Amino acid sequence: MKVTVFGIGYVGLVQAAVLAEVGHDVHCVDVDQTKVDNLKKGMIPIYEPGLTPLVTSNFEAGRITYTTDAASAIKHGELIFIAVGTPPDEDGSADLKYVLAVASTIAENMDSHKIVINKSTVPVGTADKVRAKILEVQTANDKDVSFDVVSNPEFLKEGAAVNDCLKPDRIILGTTSDVSEKKLRELYAPFNRNHDKIIVMDVRSAELTKYAANCMLATKISFMNEISNLAELFGADVENVRKGIGSDPRIGYQFIYPGCGYGGSCFPKDVQALVRSATGVGYNAKVLEAVEAVNYRQKEKLFDYLMQHYNNDLKGKTIALWGLSFKPNTDDMREASSRVLMEKLWEQGANVQAYDPEAMEETQRIYGTRSDLSLMGTKEATMNGADCLVICTEWQAFKAPDFDAIKSTIKDQVIFDGRNLFEPSLMSEYGLQYYGIGRGLSVKGS
Ligand code: UDX
Repeated sequence: MKVTVFGIGYVGLVQAAVLAEVGHDVHCVDVDQTKVDNLKKGMIPIYEPGLTPLVTSNFEAGRITYTTDAASAIKHGELIFIAVGTPPDEDGSADLKYVLAVASTIAENMDSHKIVINKSTVPVGTADKVRAKILEVQTANDKDVSFDVVSNPEFLKEGAAVNDCLKPDRIILGTTSDVSEKKLRELYAPFNRNHDKIIVMDVRSAELTKYAANCMLATKISFMNEISNLAELFGADVENVRKGIGSDPRIGYQFIYPGCGYGGSCFPKDVQALVRSATGVGYNAKVLEAVEAVNYRQKEKLFDYLMQHYNNDLKGKTIALWGLSFKPNTDDMREASSRVLMEKLWEQGANVQAYDPEAMEETQRIYGTRSDLSLMGTKEATMNGADCLVICTEWQAFKAPDFDAIKSTIKDQVIFDGRNLFEPSLMSEYGLQYYGIGRGLSVKGS
């Protein structure tokens, strides 16, 4: 089928690649000429396992093309995806200017029936706004071409995006049009082989489903972080509690890992956006407000431990920091806990020696060159001359370090672990002091 994707960002590029992989003819449009030129040269703008070979092979096979020419791309696609960014406004609500700009461009250039598909995470009611915008621009241009607007939210996880897209848990189609449903079922048929993953519903329910999914996951995390704080105060170990409650299938083991807070491009933004949307319809979303507040506090947790350990004096301390990305297997640092920590450490006059398997360039891009940040080539190098070790991201490469080397290199022989990678008892055996998250008995160190 002939498909057009607006926005060659995370969602757009992965979506384009998997659609091309199953044989669809995909034109990708972006306003960023450099990005388009780089993609044509095989330079992929994001790090995502499996994405580069998928994109490259489909580009070489002619099933993906890149362009800044929106008019020709709109002529090409009978199905047009909108996958542009919806950055948070100053008040936390999703900014729809890019989505609506694409809607205008579609309206100006369409000359046959189009199915416009919202893939970006957008507030409930956005499909109606896109529909209204297309009608408004058509009317202004004296046009009357038929179209439908469908909500088809994306549920991919960074670091597993290709697999999530190739093997989705569910495909949500928000449409009441039989024609659109039939076309989208045909588009997604290759991903819907083993059992029916397609769930069709009205547009607004589809839009809310996306927010509800992310907010539910964020709620699980903040809930568990709250329990971890209580565990600490009660002298309990949250890791035991986690296993104890996860064994109840109604709760489950997933997304109940306590830590130094959730980050990324989705959870923080989507929780805030739903809180704002709720306010817009006169509702105070108290649970979601608490989810956000708990996460905000949790991102300061490691810093609080450091302040406690060093009697509120971090001036001149050198901190070895492992993990900068908001989670493993990505170079994405949006809303990463490491940033909150580093910025607070710098305010106190501490120096950071950091390492991350993928996010070094991104850190450099965000913070530039500064005397209190040294980006080191290996995790071991961060420890040279460091007073303590802090872990912000649970990369595999951090899970079995040489503890003897840590003990002999880190001056104060102490680890602050924001992801509970190690057992406190083992740390005691190595003679290391250890701060985990919510591991009450270990907090004061061995
Ligand atoms: C998320 C959703 O999982 C995905 O379905 C949606 O489409 C986009 O948002 P992503 O942002 O890529 O995906 O990351 P995810 O793996 O969900 O992790 C988000 C954050 O939560 C990370 O910072 C992670 O460290 C944290 N997390 C996750 C926890 O702190 N504890 C957990 O138990 C799980």
